[in-house]
Amino acid sequence: MESVVLDGLLRPKSIAVIGASTDPSKIGYTVVDNIIKSGFEGPIYPINPSADEILGLKVYSSIGDCPGEVDAAVITVPAKFVLSVIEEAGKKGVKGLIIITSGFGEVGNKELEAEVVAKAHEYGMRILGPNIVGTLSNAEKLNASFAPVLPLPGKGALVSQSGALLIAMDMATFTRKVGFEKLISIGNMSDVDFADLVEWLDNDDNTSCISLYIEGFKDGRKFLNAAKKAKKPVIALKSGVSAHGAAAAASHTGSLAGAAKVYGAAFQQAGVVQATDLGNLFDLSLALSLQPAMKGDNLMVVTNGGGVGVLSADAAEKYNLPLKFAPKELQEELKKHMPPFGSAKTPADLTGMAGYDWYHDSIKAAFSHEWVDGLTVLYCETAMTNPMDIAKGIKKAIDESGVTDKPVTVSFVGGENSEKAMQWLVENHIPAYAGPDVAIHAISALREYARMKEIVNEPEEKIENVDRAKAMEIIKAAREDGRNALTEIEAKDVFRAYGLPVTTTKLSKTEDQAVELANEVGYPIVMKIVSPDILHKSDAGGVKVNIKNDEACREAYQTIMANAKAYKADANIHGVAIQEMAPWGTEVILGSVNDSTFGPTMMFGLGGIFVEVLKDVTFRVAPVSTKSAARMISEIRGAPILAGVRGEAPRDQAVLAETISRYANMIVDLADEVSESDANPVLVYEEGKGLKVVDARIILK
Ligand code: COA
Repeated sequence: MESVVLDGLLRPKSIAVIGASTDPSKIGYTVVDNIIKSGFEGPIYPINPSADEILGLKVYSSIGDCPGEVDAAVITVPAKFVLSVIEEAGKKGVKGLIIITSGFGEVGNKELEAEVVAKAHEYGMRILGPNIVGTLSNAEKLNASFAPVLPLPGKGALVSQSGALLIAMDMATFTRKVGFEKLISIGNMSDVDFADLVEWLDNDDNTSCISLYIEGFKDGRKFLNAAKKAKKPVIALKSGVSAHGAAAAASHTGSLAGAAKVYGAAFQQAGVVQATDLGNLFDLSLALSLQPAMKGDNLMVVTNGGGVGVLSADAAEKYNLPLKFAPKELQEELKKHMPPFGSAKTPADLTGMAGYDWYHDSIKAAFSHEWVDGLTVLYCETAMTNPMDIAKGIKKAIDESGVTDKPVTVSFVGGENSEKAMQWLVENHIPAYAGPDVAIHAISALREYARMKEIVNEPEEKIENVDRAKAMEIIKAAREDGRNALTEIEAKDVFRAYGLPVTTTKLSKTEDQAVELANEVGYPIVMKIVSPDILHKSDAGGVKVNIKNDEACREAYQTIMANAKAYKADANIHGVAIQEMAPWGTEVILGSVNDSTFGPTMMFGLGGIFVEVLKDVTFRVAPVSTKSAARMISEIRGAPILAGVRGEAPRDQAVLAETISRYANMIVDLADEVSESDANPVLVYEEGKGLKVVDARIILK
């Protein structure tokens, strides 16, 4: 149903421009001019109350007067007239509105924007914008925008939240020689958003890859779901990852959950390839729009120069696709197509003598070999060879191999002739780049895409043995007490209700009770101040460890109380926690934030100094399956510490993964209540011995 409505917007058979103008300096003129010049084949209806003819087209004073059906209407009247003109468009039966006009939500005029959306929906119309450049499609021969021309034709679609950038990228398609089938300006996303476009473009026969320039989502989860379902590659360039998350956070996790980490996690979970900058967005769009995903890790590189070969090996390692030696029989085969002083290892170096035949024959042999999952061909321009010949040899070899489910990327380093040859390759659907690093980055993105897609649709797990009522009771009591920070004991009780292994912790309100509880828990114990006003207990001198007997317990009780009062005289002190002293283990941190874009988000990392100084943490939008939790454990830099280094026994990673998964399910279950939380430290023991949550913090919404 939705796709059908977007068809009217993005694949219109007829189009009106409301606010068309005879004045060449106005956007309403440029849009009509662009629609005509782009060769749109359906009827074009300029709408203006006082003109008769614009650029040879008959003008209608109102959209209601147009003789035929109107699928899409481009709006170029000032903001104050938009509501009334779309009412008329609705009555006419228009399906999609391309609202170029600025002056809505982006300048705080949110009410008008909401009214416009409500009015459009009343008539079943969908809106692109407002505050956009428009939409351009080579296949539809339609430039319904004020960007100068249709982009260089290509196979991918580019959706941009920045209008100016869209125009700039439109022009850059010609200089960069990377074409796009469509450019769509998305502006304020009052109605149609990234998720809608991903869904629609995924079903558009003319689009093979979906590239996005993103400043922010209104609904991160909606995007995640759409991207997860997409059958075509989605590439995202997200800007504004530096400032987000700078807001004061009450937990470790909150302070570490910057946009770069959270968006990065979300993209990975959704199988979205992340571009690093604008140039990279072009480069990856080219590869992902022309080539299939790379289904295994075996990359073959064929080169005529040792230098670019070594550079490619460096790049392959950098982009997580390290080169491997090909099997003997493939090496033997390759040796037939190079001089005796060539090398059949990876990269296969055909030497500077390599011409058309050696390139052709070795590529054909390599590409059709079952060991090879992907191929990068490198070429340095020499006086012995003609770049165009080499390009043709590459293409012929690929075609003759009959292989269509493996990717290939190419890099020619040389002058104008190399450039022309690369252009020819691109026109023949083989992505070619000016440097080996870029060609390897591009093919590694095709590998990364396949890797992500393999795990995107893992089923979610429901955790069992959860006492949600108990957790809610604790939260409710704290709220009634006027607090939004749970005490350690309360936080641990919530964790316990979700089956997390927390250390036994009891609250003593007097010195005598402290001794009594210490004997119940069993020495040695840890004693900690319990006060909603003292979150950083150690800083306040509120923690004593390794208390071994009654006497030490009494002394610690008095010291902790005195320190707490000195730290904050009016602190509301609940008492002193008596806690079992957990044996030493590897310190890790588990935590959560309720991200404004993606909702409950889970963090895991090494604890103690590692989290404070090295920030060695990783994120996932919750929930998190046990399998995904295991990947979180293995992807931090400190993973070897948990896997067991220098003769140390491996830590209990299975229980850790299960605990992360449980925690992540808990924060989804309590998403309306919990804003941030930490289990820090969590001590992880040897395999088979589990772990203990030693300290806990929960901040309520
Ligand atoms: N129906 C049809 N046409 C109407 C109309 C109506 N109800 N009301 C006014 N018009 C006509 C005007 O008469 C004018 O035509 P004319 O030149 O023949 O007089 C035309 O619509 C445009 O109106 P005008 O008042 O001249 O506005 P403008 O062209 O100066 O500006 C916008 C209109 C939409 C371009 C401007 O308000 C705007 O939003 N600019 C920013 C757009 C932008 O940058 N967007 C992308 C950001 S990335």
